[in-house]
Amino acid sequence: MPRPSSVLAALALIGVLAVPALAGGTGEEAPQFTEEFLNDTDVLAKGQEIWVEQCQFCHGKNAYPGKAPKLKPRKYTPEFVYKRVTKGFKGMPGWDEVYNQEERMSVTAWVKNKDFSN
Ligand code: HEC
Repeated sequence: MPRPSSVLAALALIGVLAVPALAGGTGEEAPQFTEEFLNDTDVLAKGQEIWVEQCQFCHGKNAYPGKAPKLKPRKYTPEFVYKRVTKGFKGMPGWDEVYNQEERMSVTAWVKNKDFSN
């Protein structure tokens, strides 16, 4: 019968180890999407560049129908877009080994920008 205190210590340790996994498994801090960041012109320029280079191919209007869904940015939170971009989902590739966190945040900001179109 283990002492209750050692059980608690073990649970606390599991908690500490599980946190980075929940954050996406990359060990990165969860990003903060402030209004300032989302409206920064340098960030948006970088994000648009990434979108044109990597995302439009599947999501853009010139992609063949059914390849990837047309994005509906108004329905997404920045956190959702960031998560899809980072980890991917089914037919959607993850980009965490291609782009650093700031780059993935930038393309997220672009997708959420009022000037964004597929
Ligand atoms: C190889 C093709 C491909 C590329 C490249 C690609 N995507 Fe996707 N993406 C998909 C597919 C397919 C889905 C749908 C996955 C599902 O839900 O089944 C998707 C889903 C998404 C979603 C969620 C849409 C929703 O309504 O649930 C977002 C957001 C997204 N992609 C953003 C991006 C961004 C930003 C990029 C560029 C960094 C990108 N994608 C590059 C194929 C692609």
